[in-house]
Amino acid sequence: MTSIKHYLQFKDFTREEYDYLFERSKWIKDKFKRYEPYHPLFDRTLVMIFEKASTRTRLSFEAGAQQLGGSAIYLNTRDSQLGRGEPVEDAAQVISRMSDLVMIRTFEQEMVERFAANSRVPVINGLTNEYHPCQILADIFTFIEHRGPIQGRTVAWVGDSNNMCNTWLQAAEVLGFNVHVSTPPGYEVEPERAGLYGTDNFEQFADPMDACRGADLVTTDVWTSMGFEAENEARMKDFADWCVDAEMMSVADKNAVFMHCLPAHRGEEVTAEVIDGPQSVVWDEAENRLHAQKALMEYLVLGRVEAR
Ligand code: CP
Ligand code: NVA
Repeated sequence: MTSIKHYLQFKDFTREEYDYLFERSKWIKDKFKRYEPYHPLFDRTLVMIFEKASTRTRLSFEAGAQQLGGSAIYLNTRDSQLGRGEPVEDAAQVISRMSDLVMIRTFEQEMVERFAANSRVPVINGLTNEYHPCQILADIFTFIEHRGPIQGRTVAWVGDSNNMCNTWLQAAEVLGFNVHVSTPPGYEVEPERAGLYGTDNFEQFADPMDACRGADLVTTDVWTSMGFEAENEARMKDFADWCVDAEMMSVADKNAVFMHCLPAHRGEEVTAEVIDGPQSVVWDEAENRLHAQKALMEYLVLGRVEAR
């Protein structure tokens, strides 16, 4: 089963594979916008396993699978035997004999790794505590659409060093750009948890203004991620100065864009002025989950296809 290609973290693909996927995302998006049917996954089945809440991820995978001619089945912990202790390995054996592709949103990265090791079909990480590769795939596609290649550019990450931050850091190593991270004290990046190779694509800053200075993209995320709700009260205090506001945007490059994976909390990690302002591309970013993941699903199930 080792030859199956999975997408469990950003560094699972090479820069060359990303070049292909970004091109493919654009082709699939353009075709969709022209209302031209495209059904390369006819008769294929995607199984989606959710152990955490979702709006965008569920919608984009389910709609995407259907638009490509396939179908999608939603499972959650509460209604499946996974919630009653069925071993992940057993679930992987069974689910992957009945489907062509599996997407999992869960807590520990280890769960998706264990599932993939026992799966006959490709497995996609739809968010774990450690990583959110599908989101960064869509985010970089969005950046390219608005500002061109990301190579050599600077991304400012303000806030929690969470799954999104870790994935930006991996992307910087794979694709060749820089990430300036600013977190409150005690929440700094742990390079090992981020799964970095040890290159020098990122720098940590105590002051978020310094992280944003000259950046081409400023981005943030919730202060309390799913699964960390018990820390919410402490985090509200600790993160108070890490709210992306107009002052931070004013020191970024004048053409900088603002991104947020959503859902957002106006007045916490970002002001309404910024997220609803002219530099924000958050709605394109959310929409691009659909197009980028259609390219991803096509690639994992069918491999490279000629433009058609
Ligand atoms: N950004 C994102 O993954 O959103 P959902 O939690 O709604 O899927
Ligand atoms: N960091 C957030 C992202 C939600 C899409 C979380 O894990 O809850």
